[in-house]
Amino acid sequence: MTEHPHFTPSPELRAGLGALRTEVGKAVVGQDAAVTGLVIALLCRGHVLLEGVPGVAKTLLVRALSAALDLRTSRVQFTPDLMPGDVTGSLVYDARTAEFSFREGPVFTNLMLADEINRTPPKTQASLLEAMEERQVSVDGRPRHLPDPFVVIATQNPVEYEGTYPLPEAQLDRFLLKLTLPLPERDQEIEVLHRHATGFDPRDLAAAGVHPVSDGVQLAAARREVGQVQVAPEVLGYAVDLVRATRSSPSLSLGVSPRGATALLATARAWAWLAGRGYVTPDDVKALAHPTLRHRVQLRAEAELEGVTAESVLDTVLAAVPVPR
Ligand SMILES: Nc1ncnc2c1ncn2[C@@H]1O[C@H](COP(=O)(O)OP(=O)(O)OP(=O)(O)O)[C@@H](O)[C@H]1O
Ligand SMILES: [Mg+2]
Repeated sequence: MTEHPHFTPSPELRAGLGALRTEVGKAVVGQDAAVTGLVIALLCRGHVLLEGVPGVAKTLLVRALSAALDLRTSRVQFTPDLMPGDVTGSLVYDARTAEFSFREGPVFTNLMLADEINRTPPKTQASLLEAMEERQVSVDGRPRHLPDPFVVIATQNPVEYEGTYPLPEAQLDRFLLKLTLPLPERDQEIEVLHRHATGFDPRDLAAAGVHPVSDGVQLAAARREVGQVQVAPEVLGYAVDLVRATRSSPSLSLGVSPRGATALLATARAWAWLAGRGYVTPDDVKALAHPTLRHRVQLRAEAELEGVTAESVLDTVLAAVPVPR
């Protein structure tokens, strides 16, 4: 592997982003992989789908992250009666001037929590997904740019209840990462209860000591450094071989798209930067393969019946594709 002695991530910037974990940790016990994933998404300006059964702190995690950042944030509960205009904004009539003016919806923010996205009908989901992709909203034929960064963290429940609307498969590609929150370990769960027993109130994060420790300026500086993280040709080739292998997997009806390949490159670079390295290794690519690719493949019905999952297909691909040395 070629060494790149010319660039090392700045320790101060890395410490700044590391402080985010500490702040989130004041509210959320464990869930380290999800916290890291969210930081990577911020570094890449990518959107995240957060999945987990009820009560594993999906909402709390994103609320804590928002509280640890000096950024504009918004939160929308995606209920069955939510309308597209409730997300993007709408024209309102001003009687004084006798004119219509645009009232910005909650997408006009830096960090948006789209809570329980699969509880709202497709039309409203589509308005958010479109804003995520275009980073602008068109109302009355006029495009309005969203702030920069604009990062959506959408939560959803994997259990399909009646009255939920699963996100269209084709739209899932718009999420940079899909993070899954596991149930806590026993000692972690004891720590959760201990905090509650000693006065932790999830509704009052300031009282729990969660304060802004990073902001848009610092994130932009970190992002510029991530852009300098080098990728050797053989590592690029490895990432491409991985996604190409998904396309010929007999268990899949749809493999990872080229957009998915670019996402894998982006997340692996951010991960390398967080680890303090100015270059990407094949292990970085491996480490990000599951969260970056798991939602970008479609299983064949037969494979699904046999118990094959997106995760097991990715494991097979990772085991089969030769790793450059
Ligand atoms: N890992 C954890 N650390 C700290 N608190 C936790 C943890 N897991 C669960 N809790 C507690 O459980 C509560 C429920 O969490 P939260 O509302 O964020 O869950 P959720 O995953 O969003 O659930 P739902 O799918 O029902 O919306 C939290 O407010 C907190 O008190
Ligand atoms: Mg929730």
